[in-house]
This record gives sequence, structure tokens and C-alpha cells, in this order.
Amino acid sequence: MAAYNIQAGGQLQGSSIMAIPFIDLGIQRERIGAKIEEAVLKVIKHGAYIMGPEVRSFEANMSAFAGSKHTLSCANGTDAIELILLGLGVGKGDAVFVPAFTFVATAEVVPMTGAEPVFVDIQADTYNIDPVKLEASIEAVLKEGRLKPAAIIAVDLFGQPADYPALSVIAKKYGLYLICDSAQAFGCTIDGKQPLEWCVATATSFYPAKPLGCYGDGGAVATNDDALMERLVSFRVHGGATATDAATMNYTHEAKYLNVRIGMNSRLDTIQAAVLIEKLNIFAEEIALRQNVARRYNELLGGKVISVPHVKEGYVSTWAQYTIEHANRDALQLHLREKGVPSAVYYPIPLHQQPGYSMFTSGTGDLAVSEAKSKTVISLPFSPYLDAATQDEIVAAVLSFEG
Ligand SMILES: Cc1ncc(COP(=O)(O)O)c(C=O)c1O
Repeated sequence: MAAYNIQAGGQLQGSSIMAIPFIDLGIQRERIGAKIEEAVLKVIKHGAYIMGPEVRSFEANMSAFAGSKHTLSCANGTDAIELILLGLGVGKGDAVFVPAFTFVATAEVVPMTGAEPVFVDIQADTYNIDPVKLEASIEAVLKEGRLKPAAIIAVDLFGQPADYPALSVIAKKYGLYLICDSAQAFGCTIDGKQPLEWCVATATSFYPAKPLGCYGDGGAVATNDDALMERLVSFRVHGGATATDAATMNYTHEAKYLNVRIGMNSRLDTIQAAVLIEKLNIFAEEIALRQNVARRYNELLGGKVISVPHVKEGYVSTWAQYTIEHANRDALQLHLREKGVPSAVYYPIPLHQQPGYSMFTSGTGDLAVSEAKSKTVISLPFSPYLDAATQDEIVAAVLSFEG
């Protein structure tokens, strides 16, 4: 069985050495590998590689799981966020508020639409966008007067939902779209409700290391908004005419070749949909297993490092990462490496300090928490199937660090 490590750079590396994997995909493969192989072979044989029947089935299963009216699968999580922005008509002259402490994709899609990202600080205990600082940023952008506040993209970092009840009050007050980047957290809940309860649309990623991952790239948008869904379908495939467009236009050729808007090509491969159907079948159980692994880490490490993850009352995290903090983080990472324990730093540089993003300074207030966290966070190996002996080995390696 191959052991898979996700390196800090985000690349999957296959290896036959039984080192501790950072994210162990092998045990799940042992569990449902035969079903997945059968499903993939079925696609290879039926030949509908693009938008085949598995894509529709998977979208329906996702909607049932998330309680959403619609699911639109697409090529990856980055496109899922961009599709939402395009579908909502966000573009030139608009300000989109994003956390400074997130994966770059959250902000990257914003200038792609012509809009500008405005970086907002995070809360120290959850790593998610700070509603109080968000409101200050919106006010600052309004006062500056150059950009029009249009949308907020909240991120469910490391698997924990952002504070949607508070964020939705602010979104309503200022007339902004609230969008959820749940790339790391599909399946997370607040009081049993998924983020879509408060957002116009949620985006997720099926990158292999994500809680629900496929065997390549993939992503999806969930929404309850019929008109938005119609536009998403169009933007997903080259801006083709929707039923509404077609009804109001005169043409004689196939609707597929009537390109009404500038779209993209962002389809989920049928083979990946077939993989995801099988993985979604066991996903609820895996979310429950993840809680046990996280609880045990918290018990073993709580009080012994600067911080262990804090999940708010009523919130359920899907634990894309188990992230602790240490004052001497880089030395701890080196120590763990010497002990054969892989780790990762998400994220070493907040986005406002990234060379490609430092020009976006509108509305930027105090980003001190993002800056501080980037120096102390370190994520430990995590999987729903992490066994107690391996977990003990990881914890012992952390606790043996004397720096
Ligand atoms: C918070 C966040 N947003 C967006 C993405 C983009 O997802 P993908 O890699 O599928 O494009 C990721 C993936 O790492 C992510 O962690």
C-alpha cells in the first residue's frame, strides 16, 4: 500500500515506505478501493468521459447531503469560487472582503473578475474572518469611496465554519453577498446547519487531501438560488446560452454555440464524479471519525503547547487540518522531521504580505492576528483513520521538543 504525504508545498507524493503519512489516503482506499475501481472502470467502458451520468448523480447526492437545492460540480475549488463571483456579476470597481489568513485561491479569483480583494484580519481562536474588523474594513472602503463593497468571501479554515450568524447580519446591513469558501470544510455545520443557511452560495474543493477528496482536481458550488444556478451552468461551459437567454433570442443553430457571456471551461471529469460518489457514501461516518481523532489530540496536547484548536459551541469542524501553535514553530518542525513526523505550515505568509497581492491596500486595517499566526501555526498528521499508536508517536515527538 502506498503511503501518501502532502508536503508543505501542497503536492501529493507517493511512496512505498511506511513512514507516518501527513494525510493518509491509503486506509480509505483499502476500505472502498474495489468499489471505486469498479465505478471508474464502468466510466471507462461507457465512454461518457465529459459530463457523463455520474456527474449528474454526484451533483444530486451532494445536494441531498448538503440540503441544498442545487449543486454545480466543476474542475476545482478555485473555479468554484470564481464561478460564484461571475454568476453574481461581481467585477470592476467592486470590493470583495476576504480573510488575510487563507489559501491564496480565496483572494486570487477576485482580481480575475476585475474586482479588488480587501484583506480582513481573523479571530485568534478560530482563524476565521473577524466580523468586527470586517465591518471596520467595509466602513473604510466606503469612506475611501473608490470601490463599491460587493461581497464577502468567508473561509471555513481548517474545517471549522466561519461565524456565519454574525457575518450574515453585516452582509445584510451593507447589502453585500455572503459567499462561503468551504474548500477545506464541506460538511461542517453550525447548530446542525450548513453554511449555505446564511450564504448565497458555497464553494468546495475535492483536491485529494481535502476531507472529501477525489483522485485529481475537482470542485463544486452549492446554492439555493435558481437564477444564480442558471448563470453558473452557463459560466461553467464557455458562457453558453441558458434556457432564459434562449427564450429571448433568435437563433437557428444549437444553443450550445450561442455564447452569451465570457465563461470558462470548468467541468468535473466523469471519472472523478464516479470516485466521489463512493467517497460521499462514507463521508458522514468519516466526519464522525475525525471528531474522535481531534478530541484525542486535544486531550494529549492541551495545555502543553501554546494552543490546540478551539471549536466553538454548536460548531462541527470537518478537520481538514489539526493545527497547533508553538512559539518556536520552525525549530519544532525541524525536530518533528528528525523524528519522522511530517507537518505543514498553513500559512507562512498572510496574503496582504504576498508579493502578488501587496498592491491591494484598500480598507486594510489591523492585520496583526494574521501576521502573528503565520509565525506560530503548525499542522500535524491527520486522517479519520489515524490509529492511537501512531497518534501517540506524533504526540510524543511534539512533547519531546525542548525549544
Ligand atoms: C481555503 C481554500 N480555498 C480554495 C482552495 C482551492 O481549491 P482547489 O485547489 O481545488 O482549486 C483551497 C485549496 O487548497 C483552499 O484551501
